[in-house]
Amino acid sequence: AHAAPSPIGGIGFTSVPANIAPMTDAITVPPGYTARVLISWGDSLTNAPHWDPSTPMTEAVQLRTYGAHTDGMHYFPFPSTGAGGLGNTRGLLVANHEYVDPGLVHNTTTYSTDAMTLDWVNTQLAAHGVSVVEVQERNGEFGVRRPSAFNRRITGKTACTVTGPASGHPMLRTAADASGTQVLGTLNNCAHGHTPWGTYLACEENFNGYFGSSAAALAAAPLTAHERRYGMAQGGFGYRWHEAEPRFDFRATPNEPNRFGWVVEIDPWNPNSTPMKRTALGRFKHESAGVVVGSDNKVAVYMGDDERNEYVYKFVCAKRFDAKNRAANRDLLDSGTLYVARFNGDGSGVWLPLVWGQNGLTSENGFADQGEVVIKCRQAADRVGATMMDRPEWVAVHPTTREVYLTLTNNNRRGTNPASSNNVDGTTTAASARPAVDAANPRPDNRYGHIIRWRDTGGDVGATSFEWDIFAECGDSLSPVAHLQGNINGDDYGAPDGLWFDNDGRLWIQTDQAGNALGDWANIGGNVMMCADPATGETRRFLTSPRNCEVTGVTSTPDGKSMFVGIQHPGEDWSGSFTANSTWPDSGVNGPTTASGMGEVAKPRSSVVVITKDDGGVIGS
Ligand code: FEO
Ligand code: CA
Ligand code: CA
Ligand code: CA
Repeated sequence: AHAAPSPIGGIGFTSVPANIAPMTDAITVPPGYTARVLISWGDSLTNAPHWDPSTPMTEAVQLRTYGAHTDGMHYFPFPSTGAGGLGNTRGLLVANHEYVDPGLVHNTTTYSTDAMTLDWVNTQLAAHGVSVVEVQERNGEFGVRRPSAFNRRITGKTACTVTGPASGHPMLRTAADASGTQVLGTLNNCAHGHTPWGTYLACEENFNGYFGSSAAALAAAPLTAHERRYGMAQGGFGYRWHEAEPRFDFRATPNEPNRFGWVVEIDPWNPNSTPMKRTALGRFKHESAGVVVGSDNKVAVYMGDDERNEYVYKFVCAKRFDAKNRAANRDLLDSGTLYVARFNGDGSGVWLPLVWGQNGLTSENGFADQGEVVIKCRQAADRVGATMMDRPEWVAVHPTTREVYLTLTNNNRRGTNPASSNNVDGTTTAASARPAVDAANPRPDNRYGHIIRWRDTGGDVGATSFEWDIFAECGDSLSPVAHLQGNINGDDYGAPDGLWFDNDGRLWIQTDQAGNALGDWANIGGNVMMCADPATGETRRFLTSPRNCEVTGVTSTPDGKSMFVGIQHPGEDWSGSFTANSTWPDSGVNGPTTASGMGEVAKPRSSVVVITKDDGGVIGS
């Protein structure tokens, strides 16, 4: 049976209206709340000047400024010093930089045909990765402290150490790193996690898109089954890095892609620390990593692989969390058991171990050792009979019940749904090759997504079974098509992606759809952040966003009074002009960016906003 969490005492704000077409190019929050821009792409983390976004970005400027396309983030409070707590006014904001729009980086509208240079590759690599930003509240407003000994950029070229079962594996060795233990950089960090021992987990998602090769090289040596399973394709996602940097040519450097797709642990409190790629957690298109400590100090990490018909995973650490000895937890994520989920039709579920030698994960079947199991994690999960899901995005863990919620953002490749789109490698998935609908993924045309939740048996995070149910099927209640209406108790939304519980147990839901309020989104409007009561399902629209952006990334101070929210890729339009859609935030709406104060600049920029309640109360109360 499903144990309902205790009520949160209702949601204390008035819903904001949907931002329908023609959209307002601004953030809107409920009456009594204020949203201000904290930091934007290119804002300085040092004493040096901010980037002037009217100019092309350079590697040198990007290495000392906030990265592109802000995504998952966590606020690490400074240690509290008693009542009021320093941690509520000073902390480290650590944020992912998922990807770049090259046209905005280089001020070009002809990127697909421009001459590709190593300088451009290096500039884009510098825009990726993670930022550590010291933030402090002064006179009631959070700002960036600069310089700060903590401020740091980790990029697509920062040296990372590979730990766990794939460390040193032959499939990770390259000419530049014969040891298979040292990788340059982390890429496509989408969502994230954080550990109770004070580290940050950056999760590498669509790494495949950065790799490519020539048509001639692929004619001579076609894509392997392993490469196809991870979405490798000749042209990648169109970044063209491989044309100027052989590291990203997967025929010149065939093992380089195997060095991405991991969870990367970062100690933000030590600016000289080396990021660690924790391979025991498996290699796939990592969305987020929800770390849960059980009452017995057992540690589990819940993770999704964000692609249509991929899986949900759990890693259980072999050793227990030691709250009294931070150093003892340093390598907890290197040993333990990786599981993948099977959701049964009766509301039960099983965590299936991905352990070499078990369940057919043997040499005869292409798994020489545990290193190969984690490197080929998707193939291992295929073999043990896990449940294909409707694009697993973020996980969020209820602060008291440890119930885990997961967004399933959408899926148009299930059952007999005729809607289809081409695969990245140019093929089309035949209807006969699509999985049927099942109880956990019940809609053949799931264009609005749903949220599922589960509890491990006995409240034990190490249990190998669980119970699950669906929290909400998203949709447009005005749709004439019944199954597209969803069953939301409150304001409509779709394409749930970011998901986070505050300390009081409010569930915050961020969406990632087209963002232009057209077509399927005419009634729902642009992307949003919703607030839901997990006990009643009541759901209200808290924040609407600028045009053609995604709302992704949410965290707060421990007292819940300052909330940080990410606005990613405002104005994005791969086939047209970004600025025709959005000039946020420099348009002056929601205030000029605090850092640059550039005024009217025709370049939209991903930014983090900080939200406060005008009466000083807890956000959402
Ligand atoms: Fe980068 Fe799955 O969103
Ligand atoms: Ca996401
Ligand atoms: Ca998404
Ligand atoms: Ca995104």
